[in-house]
Parts: sequence; C-alpha cells; structure tokens
Amino acid sequence: MKHIISADQFSLQDIEAIFSRAETMETASPRSLQGKILATLFYEPSTRTRFSFETAMHALGGQVITAENAAGHSAAKKGESLEDMIRTVNNYADAIVLRHPDQGSARVAAQVSRVPLINAGDGSGEHPTQALLDLYTIKKECDRLQDLHVAFVGDLLYGRTVHSLLRLLRLFPIRVSLVAPPSLALPPEYKQLVPHAREYTTFDSILADVDVLYVTRVQQERFVSQEEYQQMKGSYVITSQTVTAMKSTARIMHPFPRVDEISSDVDNDPRAAYFRQAKNGLFVRMALLDLLLG
Ligand code: NCD
Repeated sequence: MKHIISADQFSLQDIEAIFSRAETMETASPRSLQGKILATLFYEPSTRTRFSFETAMHALGGQVITAENAAGHSAAKKGESLEDMIRTVNNYADAIVLRHPDQGSARVAAQVSRVPLINAGDGSGEHPTQALLDLYTIKKECDRLQDLHVAFVGDLLYGRTVHSLLRLLRLFPIRVSLVAPPSLALPPEYKQLVPHAREYTTFDSILADVDVLYVTRVQQERFVSQEEYQQMKGSYVITSQTVTAMKSTARIMHPFPRVDEISSDVDNDPRAAYFRQAKNGLFVRMALLDLLLG
C-alpha cells in the first residue's frame, strides 16, 4: 500500500490489519512518526477530515503543514497545475492528504507523487478513508460485519462517501438498500458493485428491518442549478418519530456535516452513532498514517 486512492484497493486482510491497528490506537499512541511531516492540501473545505488527519499525525509524534484553502492560494490562482503543486510539496512532506473538487484528481496527483498520497475526497468520486472509518464504526456498533442490512439514504449520485463505502461492503455478506429520489440515484458504475441492492424512493417500508441507516447530505456544491438543489434539499429527514419505527439495536450514521437530514432530537437516542463515528475517524486515520509511514 503506497497511495490511498480508492476503497477498491483494500483486501479483507488489509481491512483486518487496519482495524486491528485502529483498535490499538484507541488506547495508546505510539510516537512512531517523530520527524515526519504530513501535508494536508485541501482545494475544497473540510473540518472533520482535515482535523482528524492532523490530530492523528500530531498524536503519533509527527508534524503537519497545511493549506486549508489551497484553491485560494497564489499558486492555484496563478493557474499552477495540480501535478506541479504535488511535485513541489513532495520536497517538504513525507505524505500528502489531498481533497480536490475534480473526480479522478487523486489518481492524477498520485502519478507524480513520490510520497504516499491519500485521497480525502475527489469531487463526487471517492473518499476511501471515510469508508474505512464508516466500516470500522459498523463493526464496532453492530459487533459484526455479516447478516446486516445497510440502507443508504439521500444523495447517492454525488455522495462520495457512499461510493467508497459500497466498494468495501461488497466484500461482506451484507444486504444493501438504496433510498434516493430518482434524480439522485446511485450511478450505474456503483450500482453494478451491489447488483442485489434494492432501490427505493422512500424508506418507510424498510425502516423496521435495517440495522444501519446511513444518511447523507444533499451535496449542494455539485449542483449546477441551485433551484434544483432547493427542490432536492430536505428530501429525507430523520426525526425522533422516524426512529421509533427502527429496531432497538439499529444504528443511524452520517458522514457529516449534516444540514437538516437528521433533526437534533435524535442525537440523544443510543441508536444515533454519528458522533461516535466521527471520533472513530481519528483512530482509523492514526492507523493508516502509522501503516503508511511508520
Ligand atoms: C463528506 C465529504 O466531504 O464527502 N464529509 C466528510 O468528509 N466527512 C460528506 C459531505 O460533505 O457531505
């Protein structure tokens, strides 16, 4: 494992190794990355992903250089290519975490990077480290990665966290349901990964059966027309009323940020796993950095 570009690249053994390392990280932080430098290069805004990578690096004894608004920096404004930027940052950092609005950009960047490059979101393409922390959360919360029914709700067209998580889920005997309005349905290239997945436009008929309800934000920044976004926004809203129809052992997840997909009156329900999910991001990213650079 050199670069992390797509969730496709992980085998069952890789996942096991990452999760076992992440478990250790929950209680101990080895200072294994002393003297190493991580660059976080974000051409799109982020709080959780960037902070959790940076905190992970600090916790392992390493250091961080960051461009949280790389698109607004002088080089990008002057029209510098992503490849030149990556070549330059290669002189300063031992690994690069990249978020960029263009699908495929992480692959392009990795081609010219001598140091490990981690895709932290390439447009509506993928977000592989989020998928790992999501799967880690499912395993922890449900105590297993089999005989589960996972339903994805919301923007399955543009939601890159969904795209990456589906690539991991297909490695396990897990049933998948897809709930989206027709105009935000999962693209065929991802649908073919889960040929048995059933598609719905509302979640009412499956709520009582799901073990994990994975809720997503309608990705406003990917819409060409804001009018269309306004129509789609608020398509699905989870309230405490919704949750009463779910199993007591079910879990609600969300990659965050949430806008209005889950009302705050759900937060204190033990089935609301999204804050624990965000915390797991730190342990999984510590494990990944340690495996890549340690
Ligand atoms: C997600 C993303 O950036 O794709 N956020 C995250 O990294 N946790 C989801 C989103 O922005 O809706």
